[in-house]
Amino acid sequence: MNTLPIGVVKQKNSLYTVSRSNRPVYGEKIRKIEVGYLREWNPKRSKLAAAIVKHITTVPLKQNSSVLYLGAASGTTVSHISDICSSGRVYAIEKAYDPFVQLLDLSQQRDNIYPIIEDAGQVDRFRFFIDRVDMIYQDIAQRNQVQIFNSNAAAFTDARDALLVLKIRAISSKGHERDILQEATSRIEGFRVLETVDLSPFSKSNYMLRLKRL
Ligand SMILES: C[S@@+](CC[C@H](N)C(=O)[O-])C[C@H]1O[C@@H](n2cnc3c(N)ncnc32)[C@H](O)[C@@H]1O
Repeated sequence: MNTLPIGVVKQKNSLYTVSRSNRPVYGEKIRKIEVGYLREWNPKRSKLAAAIVKHITTVPLKQNSSVLYLGAASGTTVSHISDICSSGRVYAIEKAYDPFVQLLDLSQQRDNIYPIIEDAGQVDRFRFFIDRVDMIYQDIAQRNQVQIFNSNAAAFTDARDALLVLKIRAISSKGHERDILQEATSRIEGFRVLETVDLSPFSKSNYMLRLKRL
């Protein structure tokens, strides 16, 4: 049994976020309820949804949380975090132009998404745009993903919690998955690992780490 943040609903076998918006972001089903809309949250499209379906114990997000999101792409998961943190902020960093254009469009429909086109590894280039954050969420499939996380963890010292997706085969195509995971985990600085969730079958070779500031 996991504790779901306010704003996340499980019904039968499906997961939803409560939204003020009735506009689909990635073709998801939406239906009207008394307090707004329920937006279906697809674990095959979002690793955070997959982590919840795979029973992550808790998700460190509140209604007023400020989140630094590294590797936002076109905003699939960002949009659900924007629903959950309805009175907070989501600073969404994405370096590729094409998904960023869609992210920008999404941010024009929602007043709590702040899109920034930058390389997440170059923290000095976006640190000054961002006030403070409670949580760091990272989903970047690069060989240096732990290094990117460490540089942001060092720059955003108010962040007490983090969710870090480790894409094992982006770190190394050789060797046992568990060995690469262990080695990558040992390089995380400033945070300890509270929980590791294997995201298969929704997302192969991806693990969600729940971290707490030391
Ligand atoms: C797996 S996708 C993210 C999916 C997204 N998190 C979601 O759930 O909706 C990874 C994204 O990270 C971006 N990315 C890769 N390296 C990056 C970097 N150094 N800085 C910022 N974004 C990066 C890629 O362009 C890609 O859009």
